[in-house]
Amino acid sequence: MIPWEFIGSARLPVGGEELRLYKRGEEFSIRFDGGELMNSRAHGSEDALADLACAVIADRPRPRVLIGGLGMGYTAAAALKRLGAAGRVVVAELAPAVVEWNRGPLAHLAGRPLQDARIRVREIDVGRVLREESQAYDAILLDVDNGPGGLACRSNAWLYSMAGLDAAHAALRPAGVLAVWSASPDQTFSKRLRRAGFDAEEVGVQATAAGRGGRRTIWLAVRGS
Ligand SMILES: C[S@@+](CC[C@H](N)C(=O)[O-])C[C@H]1O[C@@H](n2cnc3c(N)ncnc32)[C@H](O)[C@@H]1O
Repeated sequence: MIPWEFIGSARLPVGGEELRLYKRGEEFSIRFDGGELMNSRAHGSEDALADLACAVIADRPRPRVLIGGLGMGYTAAAALKRLGAAGRVVVAELAPAVVEWNRGPLAHLAGRPLQDARIRVREIDVGRVLREESQAYDAILLDVDNGPGGLACRSNAWLYSMAGLDAAHAALRPAGVLAVWSASPDQTFSKRLRRAGFDAEEVGVQATAAGRGGRRTIWLAVRGS
Protein backbone atom coordinates (compact mmCIF):
# COMPACT_ATOMS: atom_id res chain seq x y z
CA MET A 1 0.00 0.00 0.00
CA ILE A 2 1.42 3.41 -1.02
CA PRO A 3 1.46 5.79 1.99
CA TRP A 4 -0.35 9.15 1.88
CA GLU A 5 1.97 12.10 1.26
CA PHE A 6 1.09 15.50 2.78
CA ILE A 7 1.17 18.18 0.03
CA GLY A 8 -0.02 21.31 1.84
CA SER A 9 -2.63 23.03 3.92
CA ALA A 10 -5.09 25.87 3.32
CA ARG A 11 -6.48 28.02 6.11
CA LEU A 12 -10.04 29.22 5.40
CA PRO A 13 -9.89 33.01 5.85
CA VAL A 14 -13.42 33.33 7.25
CA GLY A 15 -13.69 30.68 10.00
CA GLY A 16 -9.99 29.79 10.29
CA GLU A 17 -10.60 26.07 9.66
CA GLU A 18 -7.85 24.14 7.87
CA LEU A 19 -8.03 22.06 4.69
CA ARG A 20 -5.20 19.61 4.00
CA LEU A 21 -4.17 18.15 0.65
CA TYR A 22 -2.75 14.61 0.46
CA LYS A 23 -1.51 12.46 -2.45
CA ARG A 24 -1.14 8.68 -2.82
CA GLY A 25 0.07 7.59 -6.26
CA GLU A 26 -2.35 9.21 -8.71
CA GLU A 27 -5.03 9.77 -6.02
CA PHE A 28 -5.59 13.10 -4.23
CA SER A 29 -7.61 13.77 -1.09
CA ILE A 30 -8.71 17.07 0.51
CA ARG A 31 -9.43 16.63 4.22
CA PHE A 32 -10.80 18.77 7.02
CA ASP A 33 -11.44 18.15 10.71
CA GLY A 34 -14.76 16.46 9.92
CA GLY A 35 -13.02 13.86 7.70
CA GLU A 36 -12.57 13.78 3.93
CA LEU A 37 -14.05 16.68 1.97
CA MET A 38 -13.36 15.06 -1.39
CA ASN A 39 -11.27 12.46 -3.22
CA SER A 40 -10.15 12.49 -6.85
CA ARG A 41 -11.25 8.88 -7.29
CA ALA A 42 -14.91 9.75 -6.75
CA HIS A 43 -16.11 12.80 -8.66
CA GLY A 44 -19.24 11.47 -10.39
CA SER A 45 -21.50 13.52 -8.12
CA GLU A 46 -19.37 16.69 -8.53
CA ASP A 47 -19.76 16.28 -12.33
CA ALA A 48 -23.49 15.57 -11.91
CA LEU A 49 -23.95 18.81 -9.95
CA ALA A 50 -23.01 20.76 -13.10
CA ASP A 51 -24.62 18.34 -15.56
CA LEU A 52 -28.04 18.46 -13.87
CA ALA A 53 -28.14 22.24 -13.47
CA CYS A 54 -26.65 23.05 -16.89
CA ALA A 55 -29.11 20.71 -18.63
CA VAL A 56 -31.82 23.17 -17.51
CA ILE A 57 -30.09 26.42 -18.52
CA ALA A 58 -27.44 25.66 -21.21
CA ASP A 59 -29.75 26.63 -24.10
CA ARG A 60 -30.42 30.11 -22.71
CA PRO A 61 -28.67 33.04 -24.42
CA ARG A 62 -25.29 33.78 -22.75
CA PRO A 63 -25.84 31.47 -19.76
CA ARG A 64 -23.99 32.59 -16.62
CA VAL A 65 -23.07 30.13 -13.88
CA LEU A 66 -21.73 30.75 -10.36
CA ILE A 67 -19.89 27.86 -8.67
CA GLY A 68 -19.25 27.97 -4.94
CA GLY A 69 -16.16 25.93 -4.12
CA LEU A 70 -13.38 25.06 -6.60
CA GLY A 71 -12.17 21.90 -4.79
CA MET A 72 -10.42 19.87 -7.50
CA GLY A 73 -12.16 21.65 -10.39
CA TYR A 74 -14.47 18.83 -11.51
CA THR A 75 -17.74 20.78 -11.24
CA ALA A 76 -16.16 23.75 -13.06
CA ALA A 77 -14.87 21.49 -15.86
CA ALA A 78 -18.26 19.77 -16.24
CA ALA A 79 -20.05 23.15 -16.43
CA LEU A 80 -17.65 24.40 -19.13
CA LYS A 81 -18.24 21.19 -21.10
CA ARG A 82 -22.02 21.70 -20.93
CA LEU A 83 -22.06 25.41 -21.83
CA GLY A 84 -21.44 26.73 -25.33
CA ALA A 85 -18.99 29.41 -26.42
CA ALA A 86 -21.26 32.17 -25.04
CA GLY A 87 -21.42 30.62 -21.55
CA ARG A 88 -19.53 32.13 -18.62
CA VAL A 89 -18.52 30.56 -15.31
CA VAL A 90 -17.55 32.42 -12.15
CA VAL A 91 -15.96 30.28 -9.42
CA ALA A 92 -15.94 31.68 -5.87
CA GLU A 93 -13.24 29.92 -3.80
CA LEU A 94 -12.62 30.89 -0.20
CA ALA A 95 -9.08 29.52 0.16
CA PRO A 96 -6.39 31.07 -2.08
CA ALA A 97 -4.23 27.95 -1.58
CA VAL A 98 -6.94 25.80 -3.23
CA VAL A 99 -6.73 28.03 -6.31
CA GLU A 100 -2.93 27.61 -6.29
CA TRP A 101 -3.30 23.81 -6.04
CA ASN A 102 -5.60 23.93 -9.08
CA ARG A 103 -2.91 25.77 -11.02
CA GLY A 104 -0.30 23.28 -9.77
CA PRO A 105 -0.56 19.69 -8.49
CA LEU A 106 -4.33 19.31 -9.11
CA ALA A 107 -4.49 21.07 -12.51
CA HIS A 108 -4.49 17.91 -14.65
CA LEU A 109 -7.25 16.11 -12.71
CA ALA A 110 -10.21 17.84 -14.37
CA GLY A 111 -8.36 18.80 -17.58
CA ARG A 112 -7.09 22.28 -16.56
CA PRO A 113 -10.45 24.13 -16.50
CA LEU A 114 -8.82 27.32 -15.14
CA GLN A 115 -7.10 27.75 -18.52
CA ASP A 116 -10.49 28.11 -20.25
CA ALA A 117 -11.16 31.70 -21.35
CA ARG A 118 -14.81 31.42 -20.24
CA ILE A 119 -13.97 31.00 -16.55
CA ARG A 120 -13.13 33.57 -13.89
CA VAL A 121 -11.94 32.57 -10.42
CA ARG A 122 -12.60 34.91 -7.49
CA GLU A 123 -10.92 34.30 -4.12
CA ILE A 124 -13.98 35.17 -2.08
CA ASP A 125 -16.70 33.69 0.14
CA VAL A 126 -19.53 32.57 -2.16
CA GLY A 127 -21.93 33.91 0.49
CA ARG A 128 -20.58 37.39 -0.14
CA VAL A 129 -21.19 37.03 -3.89
CA LEU A 130 -24.78 35.96 -3.19
CA ARG A 131 -25.33 38.97 -0.91
CA GLU A 132 -23.92 41.42 -3.46
CA GLU A 133 -25.50 40.26 -6.74
CA SER A 134 -29.05 40.55 -8.06
CA GLN A 135 -30.53 38.52 -10.94
CA ALA A 136 -27.00 37.81 -12.15
CA TYR A 137 -26.90 34.04 -12.74
CA ASP A 138 -28.83 31.36 -14.62
CA ALA A 139 -27.43 28.72 -12.27
CA ILE A 140 -25.74 28.73 -8.87
CA LEU A 141 -23.92 25.50 -7.95
CA LEU A 142 -22.96 25.10 -4.29
CA ASP A 143 -20.46 22.46 -3.20
CA VAL A 144 -18.59 24.01 -0.30
CA ASP A 145 -19.25 21.47 2.49
CA ASN A 146 -20.32 17.89 2.90
CA GLY A 147 -23.84 19.35 2.81
CA PRO A 148 -26.16 21.28 5.15
CA GLY A 149 -25.33 18.78 7.91
CA GLY A 150 -21.54 18.58 7.36
CA LEU A 151 -19.97 22.02 7.36
CA ALA A 152 -16.32 22.49 6.35
CA CYS A 153 -16.54 26.05 7.67
CA ARG A 154 -18.92 27.05 10.51
CA SER A 155 -19.93 30.32 8.84
CA ASN A 156 -21.25 28.34 5.84
CA ALA A 157 -24.36 27.54 7.94
CA TRP A 158 -25.74 30.85 6.61
CA LEU A 159 -25.77 29.48 3.04
CA TYR A 160 -28.35 26.81 3.99
CA SER A 161 -30.44 29.12 6.20
CA MET A 162 -33.56 30.99 5.05
CA ALA A 163 -31.45 34.15 4.74
CA GLY A 164 -28.89 32.35 2.54
CA LEU A 165 -31.57 30.79 0.35
CA ASP A 166 -33.33 34.17 -0.01
CA ALA A 167 -30.00 35.65 -1.16
CA ALA A 168 -29.48 32.81 -3.68
CA HIS A 169 -33.03 33.32 -4.94
CA ALA A 170 -32.35 37.04 -5.45
CA ALA A 171 -29.00 36.36 -7.19
CA LEU A 172 -30.66 34.10 -9.76
CA ARG A 173 -32.29 35.26 -12.97
CA PRO A 174 -35.98 34.28 -13.40
CA ALA A 175 -36.32 30.47 -13.63
CA GLY A 176 -32.67 30.16 -12.63
CA VAL A 177 -31.47 26.99 -10.91
CA LEU A 178 -29.86 26.56 -7.51
CA ALA A 179 -28.08 23.19 -7.25
CA VAL A 180 -26.66 22.09 -3.90
CA TRP A 181 -24.36 19.07 -3.27
CA SER A 182 -24.61 16.99 -0.10
CA ALA A 183 -23.20 13.71 1.19
CA SER A 184 -26.66 12.78 2.49
CA PRO A 185 -30.36 13.62 2.10
CA ASP A 186 -32.03 16.16 4.40
CA GLN A 187 -35.79 16.60 4.33
CA THR A 188 -35.67 19.74 6.47
CA PHE A 189 -33.48 21.40 3.88
CA SER A 190 -35.85 20.34 1.05
CA LYS A 191 -38.72 22.00 2.91
CA ARG A 192 -36.68 25.15 3.52
CA LEU A 193 -35.90 25.41 -0.21
CA ARG A 194 -39.62 25.29 -0.98
CA ARG A 195 -40.35 27.91 1.68
CA ALA A 196 -37.75 30.15 0.01
CA GLY A 197 -39.73 30.00 -3.25
CA PHE A 198 -37.93 27.21 -5.09
CA ASP A 199 -39.50 24.33 -6.93
CA ALA A 200 -37.10 21.83 -5.35
CA GLU A 201 -36.28 18.23 -6.15
CA GLU A 202 -33.87 15.99 -4.19
CA VAL A 203 -31.92 13.80 -6.64
CA GLY A 204 -29.81 10.77 -5.64
CA VAL A 205 -26.60 10.39 -7.68
CA GLN A 206 -23.68 7.93 -7.69
CA ALA A 207 -20.38 9.00 -6.15
CA THR A 208 -18.50 7.44 -9.09
CA ALA A 209 -19.42 7.05 -12.75
CA ALA A 210 -18.90 3.28 -12.32
CA GLY A 211 -21.63 3.24 -9.65
CA ARG A 212 -19.28 2.52 -6.72
CA GLY A 213 -18.72 4.57 -3.55
CA GLY A 214 -22.32 5.02 -2.45
CA ARG A 215 -24.87 7.70 -3.22
CA ARG A 216 -24.85 11.46 -2.80
CA THR A 217 -27.66 14.01 -2.84
CA ILE A 218 -28.13 16.97 -5.14
CA TRP A 219 -30.95 19.45 -4.69
CA LEU A 220 -32.11 20.91 -7.97
CA ALA A 221 -34.16 23.98 -7.11
CA VAL A 222 -35.73 26.18 -9.78
CA ARG A 223 -36.41 29.78 -8.81
CA GLY A 224 -40.08 30.69 -8.83
CA SER A 225 -41.05 34.18 -9.94
C1 LIG B 1 -15.88 19.76 -1.74
S1 LIG B 1 -14.87 21.01 -2.37
C2 LIG B 1 -15.64 21.40 -3.92
C3 LIG B 1 -15.50 20.29 -4.92
C4 LIG B 1 -15.79 20.72 -6.33
N1 LIG B 1 -17.22 20.66 -6.57
C5 LIG B 1 -15.07 19.86 -7.34
O1 LIG B 1 -15.68 19.47 -8.34
O2 LIG B 1 -13.89 19.57 -7.17
C6 LIG B 1 -15.31 22.40 -1.38
C7 LIG B 1 -14.55 23.67 -1.73
O3 LIG B 1 -15.30 24.77 -1.23
C8 LIG B 1 -14.41 25.73 -0.69
N2 LIG B 1 -15.22 26.57 0.23
C9 LIG B 1 -15.66 26.28 1.48
N3 LIG B 1 -16.44 27.26 1.94
C10 LIG B 1 -16.52 28.20 0.95
C11 LIG B 1 -17.21 29.44 0.83
N4 LIG B 1 -17.98 29.92 1.81
N5 LIG B 1 -17.06 30.14 -0.32
C12 LIG B 1 -16.27 29.68 -1.34
N6 LIG B 1 -15.60 28.49 -1.27
C13 LIG B 1 -15.73 27.77 -0.15
C14 LIG B 1 -13.32 24.89 -0.06
O4 LIG B 1 -12.13 25.64 0.13
C15 LIG B 1 -13.18 23.79 -1.11
O5 LIG B 1 -12.26 24.17 -2.11
